[in-house]
Amino acid sequence: MNWSSQIITHAHALPAAVYVDTTYDLIDKQLILKPSWQLVAHLSQLNTTGDHVVCDWAGIPVITVNTGDVIQTFYNVCQHRGGPLAWKNGHSKILMCKYHGWNYHLDGRLKSAPEMQHNKNFNVCNHHLTKINTDIWQNFVFIALAPPPMTLAELITDITKLATPTTFSDFAFYRRDEFVVNCNWKVYVENYLEGYHLPHVHPGLNALLDYKSYQTQLNQWYSYQFSPIDVAGGIYGEGQAHYFFIYPNTMFNILPNRIQTNQVLPVTPDQCRVIFDYYYPKQITADIEQLMTEDRQFSDQVQQEDITICEAVQKGLASGSYQPGPLCQKRETGIHQFQEWVRTAYRQAKQ
Ligand code: FES
Ligand SMILES: [Fe+2]
Repeated sequence: MNWSSQIITHAHALPAAVYVDTTYDLIDKQLILKPSWQLVAHLSQLNTTGDHVVCDWAGIPVITVNTGDVIQTFYNVCQHRGGPLAWKNGHSKILMCKYHGWNYHLDGRLKSAPEMQHNKNFNVCNHHLTKINTDIWQNFVFIALAPPPMTLAELITDITKLATPTTFSDFAFYRRDEFVVNCNWKVYVENYLEGYHLPHVHPGLNALLDYKSYQTQLNQWYSYQFSPIDVAGGIYGEGQAHYFFIYPNTMFNILPNRIQTNQVLPVTPDQCRVIFDYYYPKQITADIEQLMTEDRQFSDQVQQEDITICEAVQKGLASGSYQPGPLCQKRETGIHQFQEWVRTAYRQAKQ
């Protein structure tokens, strides 16, 4: 397979194999997803010492903890025989393994282990939860499971400015929805990366946005799609829709008084899990409450439309008939950027 870089004027989509073969799924995880910044929590979920948020990151259990000093993420994996420290988000002064009850301090040091005093050479000082590189941007907590090619600040540069007038610190986590979608994670990402499908797949959303003014800008590590909101048609009021796709699988969808994040995680080559987190202003008024209800209904409708088309595309890609077609230079620059990142990883894998 040829993974040479392609310029946009001649770019073709990726071959079907990368969406169906296990080999590429493994490369995606090792060379794209693990060495990158992954969104796992928000500070509004970690207000007090002992608050923790658990997350299944593409099958890897992790736990983010407010230790009192810092926000730290660990593998949610006990150093005895691999049990979990917590099943779900919560609060506790110590982290007690759910298997045999080993107790860890919030900073990951082992505090005590039932009945292990009978073991001659056992010393709690030799056991510690495994830390994961953790960093924070605008109250959003990110982790990197392997060293990424950029700092979190370099990844996200200028997004705060572009998302004006959004004040990120005004928002708190409100709700999580999860969807299992029967398509490769890259199919779902690529569908997000273009507004080309708006008139055909999302009549409701298309009525809300101004398709003619819909634009895509590229930054080094993210793409930014934006459009004015047509006030007459909408539940969001006047303003702008900002859609940020941050390398390699995180989305920030910002509308007036609402931030929604999406994370797309592979499950198998032909299945992914998409996490939707909703954030609203900390001060909840009657108007915001109404927005929350209508926003969820509207988002679910758009999501169902995306799921239907992505699952159909996956079948098309797996049919044995597909040959990569040319990308639309006007509307698919974000896809081109993403596919260039993917090609870079596949070149690396070949070496
Ligand atoms: S696996 Fe955690 S106490 Fe045994
Ligand atoms: Fe869509």
